[in-house]
Order: sequence, then C-alpha cells, then structure tokens
Amino acid sequence: MHAVAMKLFIDTGSVAEVEEVAGWGVLSGATTNPSLLAKEGGDPGEIVMRICELVDGPVSAEVVSSEAGGMLAEGRALAGLHRHVVVKVPFSAAGLAATRDLTAEGIRVNMTLVFSASQAVLAAEAGATYVSCFMGRVDDISIDSTAVLGEIVETLRGSEAQVLAASLRHPMHTVAAAKLGCEVATVPGKVLRQMLQHPLTTSGIERFEADWRSRPEFADWLGGLVAGAR
Ligand code: G3P
Repeated sequence: MHAVAMKLFIDTGSVAEVEEVAGWGVLSGATTNPSLLAKEGGDPGEIVMRICELVDGPVSAEVVSSEAGGMLAEGRALAGLHRHVVVKVPFSAAGLAATRDLTAEGIRVNMTLVFSASQAVLAAEAGATYVSCFMGRVDDISIDSTAVLGEIVETLRGSEAQVLAASLRHPMHTVAAAKLGCEVATVPGKVLRQMLQHPLTTSGIERFEADWRSRPEFADWLGGLVAGAR
C-alpha cells in the first residue's frame, strides 16, 4: 500500500535525472513535454524509451500538431515507441477529438494544459486517463492554484479520469496536491531533491553517527552481526 494515495511521477526530459531519482524507489511514472525535451541533447525517441525502462510505468510524450488528424498520427507513432507511453495531448477542440480517437484504439491519453473544472469535464468525457493542471502557471497569473485544482478534483470525483498536478515549483505544491486528493503529481527533479531535505534530519543523522563512533566497540559488534546474517 502507498503511504499516500497520490502517486509521484518525475517531470523531466533528462535520462540522468530519472536514473538518479528512480533509485530512491518512489517513482511510479514520468512526464515529458516539448520544452523539457528541447533542453536535452540526443534523440527524443531514445530518451522517452529509456525513461520508460527506468520508471517501468506510464511516461507521457506529447504531440505537437494543432489539428486532430495530425495529433492522432503523432499519438499512434509515440504510443508505438514503448508500451509505457501515454500520449500527451494539449487541450483544445481538436485535442478532445484526438483523445476520443486515441482512447478508442486503447491508447492512453494525458490531456494537458487544463486550467478549469469545465475544461476538465470535457477532457474526462473525451476519455483522457490523466487530466493535467499546471499549478505553478496558475499561481504565476495571481490565481490560487489550490482553489482551481481543488475544484477540478471535486468535479472529477467518481470519474475514471485521474487528476495529475503539474508545474510544481516547490515542495509545498506537492503536499497541496496530495491534500487535495490528486491521483498523481509530476514533480521536477529539483523539487524532489528539495523534498528530501530537513535540517533536523541532517543534524539528527550527524548526532547518531557521532554517538555511535564514541563507542568504538559498537562498530565491531555490528560488523559481526552483519557478517553472521550473510
Ligand atoms: O509537465 C509540464 C509542466 O510541469 C510545466 O511546468 O514549470 O514549465 O510551468 P512549468
């Protein structure tokens, strides 16, 4: 069972970052977008496939066409890269149509750039598996992202669509998303590293280590215990 109901994805286009954080054992998936992939060197398809292997869970890869036919063709191709690929489709009338067609083919869709409960209703109705709301960008325009996200969560309660909190800029965005009942939060590596930190954890570990070193015979005892357990 998860300690919290919300699953954590990593929001990145960096394979190295996924390699680092996947080792912590907390990732259920990943999200990329054109901006994140544009920051990285190398082939975007190779990057997406490697991230799929590393997280062994849903990995969003985004279409860039603005009309439904193009989105459908790109979505099918992206889904063919790896069984873990979820096709990310920007919100629009064309995006809704493409979402309906992709989901009818059994391809999962993450509908992105959803900023209101009414847009979320349309995305869920079109069959999106994930509905992505960008917290940081809502806060950037002086609108309370927790109010918007909370309304989306409430509106989609009972629907099959999962609310995915994105554009998380600091640890408290992640906590807010969990408290609001989002099914998923996609978190940048920088914020995940910030979430590790607490000054009392650091000082506590230092004190435990110093106290243990003050009794040198303890190290021999523990070493023997470990050797005996092998
Ligand atoms: O997945 C995309 C989203 O998280 C974007 O974040 O920081 O560019 O608003 P940001």
